[in-house]
Amino acid sequence: MKIVDGEIYIGGISASEIACLYGTPTYVYDEQAIRANYRRAFSAFSRYYPDFKFFYAVKACNNPAVCSILVDEGAGIDAASVNEIKLAASLGKGGEEIMFSGNFLSEDDIRLGLQSGAIFNLDDISILPRVLKHGTPEIISFRVNPGYGRSNVGEFVTNAGPNAKFGLHPDQVMEAYKSAKDAGIKRFGAHMMPGSCITDCDYFPFITGLLMDIVGKAGRELGIDFEFIDLGGGLGIPYLPDEDKLDLERAAELTSEMFKSKISEYGLAPPRLKMEPARYFVGDAGFIVGRVHSIKHSYKNIIGTDIGMNTLARPAMYGAYHNILVNRKEGDPRATFGLCGQLCENTDFWVKERELPSTICEGDIVVVENAGAYGYAMSYQYNGRLRPAEVLVNGTKHALVRPREEYEDMVRGTSIPDWLGSGKK
Ligand code: LLP
Repeated sequence: MKIVDGEIYIGGISASEIACLYGTPTYVYDEQAIRANYRRAFSAFSRYYPDFKFFYAVKACNNPAVCSILVDEGAGIDAASVNEIKLAASLGKGGEEIMFSGNFLSEDDIRLGLQSGAIFNLDDISILPRVLKHGTPEIISFRVNPGYGRSNVGEFVTNAGPNAKFGLHPDQVMEAYKSAKDAGIKRFGAHMMPGSCITDCDYFPFITGLLMDIVGKAGRELGIDFEFIDLGGGLGIPYLPDEDKLDLERAAELTSEMFKSKISEYGLAPPRLKMEPARYFVGDAGFIVGRVHSIKHSYKNIIGTDIGMNTLARPAMYGAYHNILVNRKEGDPRATFGLCGQLCENTDFWVKERELPSTICEGDIVVVENAGAYGYAMSYQYNGRLRPAEVLVNGTKHALVRPREEYEDMVRGTSIPDWLGSGKK
């Protein structure tokens, strides 16, 4: 993103042009930024530990165009559901190029997951016998809850520790791998995902040490060589204007040092190191272009836009901060405003107070930053306010990669049972 003579550009396309060609609100992803993020991260981690692979967690942004960029860069796919496995298959990914990290799986999830050949990453020991009823996978991994997790989004996206629903308790790890080995499973991996959005580089070696101490002992005692260790996602991006960036090089260096020292401490054959980031790849490469509908001066000065909590759920859900720019007005003096969408819910008043250009007025174009991860993916239809369009840009090229929803999308598949007649009076 850059501002030239007041006009905001995403890649080589101006926010005005996006609004004019595609309407608002529209999610816009910058392909070059996604590729640069991937390459920066891959070069850092693979430099310090060459047997390294990324799996993109498609839950953050499942637009196939975006996913295909990461696949093209060399990423496997981390899937949370069978539908995400299908998405991976549509991009040419299959088998062990997919990590299946669902939780509380249904019988269908297990059956279809096995059929796909994806690596099963079991969230609990109780799932193993249920998997074995359907067949014996070639390789299995367990998701460990190492007892500690953290996030810049507070407790909301802290995915490990005693209050998390995810992963095996460390005391169950030995039993889990022993049962898998006794059942005839030959190949093993281990996984954790203790938190999302962390910009402190010391966190990554710390959690690596925690996991390795748990699975290292199990490996040594059971005579298991782990083929891979997967550290999950969690590479954070700054959302606040004055927040420091993650020192990725340092995180990679410290993590690989810790990893190697634990491998030798537990006498393990060096496993492949995997990570499955999402936010780091797509977060700051995505934007929402929206429009100011009206400005109200009541108890508070409120800017009403077409970007609601249905478009971007994170602020209302987690109290998350997203920077907002006003096209052609960023150089103007500031005044305090609130900002909201159009839903009939007060949580849609998603910016309570923010210094924004005092000259802001009806019709202005606003751009929300850092919206590429968990943005569109968590959007929903409510109040008949339907999901926005998605556009991919690469320099001055641009393409609609998902159309804006229409009335038909809101009612698709619904019907009125016979006993209600036609539903019309
Ligand atoms: N792997 C697994 C198993 C995950 O559950 C997640 C995200 C990731 C990888 C990717 O994590 P990342 O690199 O993006 O931190 N909706 C929240 C974030 C929830 C994270 C869920 N799991 C948000 O908007 O901040």
